[in-house]
Amino acid sequence: MAEAPQSATTRAHSNIAFVKYWGNRDNRLRLPANASISMNLADLHTTTTVAWDSALREDELTIDGAAAADPALKRVGDHLDMLRARFDDRRFARVSSSNNFPMGTGIASSASAFAALTMAACAALGIEPAERELSALARLGSGSAARSIPAGFVEWLPGESHESSFARSFAPPEHWDLVDIIAIVSREHKRTGSSAGHQTADTSVLQQSRLRSADERFRMVKAAILRRDFEQFADIVEEDSNLMHAVMMTSKPPLFYWEPVSLEIMKAVRHWRQADNLRVCYTLDAGPNVHCICAAGDADIVEKRLRSLSSALDIRRSAAGGGAQVLPADY
Ligand code: DP6
Repeated sequence: MAEAPQSATTRAHSNIAFVKYWGNRDNRLRLPANASISMNLADLHTTTTVAWDSALREDELTIDGAAAADPALKRVGDHLDMLRARFDDRRFARVSSSNNFPMGTGIASSASAFAALTMAACAALGIEPAERELSALARLGSGSAARSIPAGFVEWLPGESHESSFARSFAPPEHWDLVDIIAIVSREHKRTGSSAGHQTADTSVLQQSRLRSADERFRMVKAAILRRDFEQFADIVEEDSNLMHAVMMTSKPPLFYWEPVSLEIMKAVRHWRQADNLRVCYTLDAGPNVHCICAAGDADIVEKRLRSLSSALDIRRSAAGGGAQVLPADY
């Protein structure tokens, strides 16, 4: 008789990077070219159940209630292959995952997805790796997923090997009441995802110069977060995002993620900060959505102004969030 499946359910939050990860020193191991800093997003999360089942002949994946095919199925299967090899288990798995935010829009679904998947796959096997090991394992599925394992404000130092490339928390979520107001400019699926993008980063003549100055921005942003110094934080966060997009736009082939309305919002945000003293700055990932990072006291007015810029904008809002967690069986 077949053994009963072993299952576990986890939840991991998405994260927004303040100093970006763009380009790998080792694409297979996802060893990043530079250190990055992020904040977990409490209100954007992925919930994933993994059931290892000896009756299955292949892995099965459902995302938001629908059966998923390649390339998502292949990417998840590859990650499970790595975990099967590492933990010496040959069973296939039934994976069911749901997001409370739209996928493929530049809100990082791969970060929360691979953090939740990695933790659920381990928990279902009865394995509880140390946080740094879990973060490194999640990194193999998606680099930014390494940062969705620990809580709050997180740093990911590049490391030189699989074991030494992991993310860790340097301040809990309640350390600073920043709010991310995300202007969702488009729900269209991205044409070029991050994994392909990372591989072209070195084709931009600007990447080396971005990397030479990245450690300095990393130190300044971390110090600004620790001191809760919004002014210093805002200038560097915007510069870092602009630098990453300059690399993207000058790669071969070029990657243009901004839409006209993205630029309109970026200019408005700078104006609100400089002319009206609102504590808000912008940052964009590999997509057109604009993350407006603001001090909690200015969040309502920033949201109101964003809505009056364009009534077509969809808006999501989130404070800093905790780390990935195993949910109780009856969650
Ligand atoms: C622009 O982690 O999505 O969001 O490792 O290939 O899955 P893969 O890439 P991913 O890259 C994230 C890039 C970014 C910046 C960041 O989050 O640091």
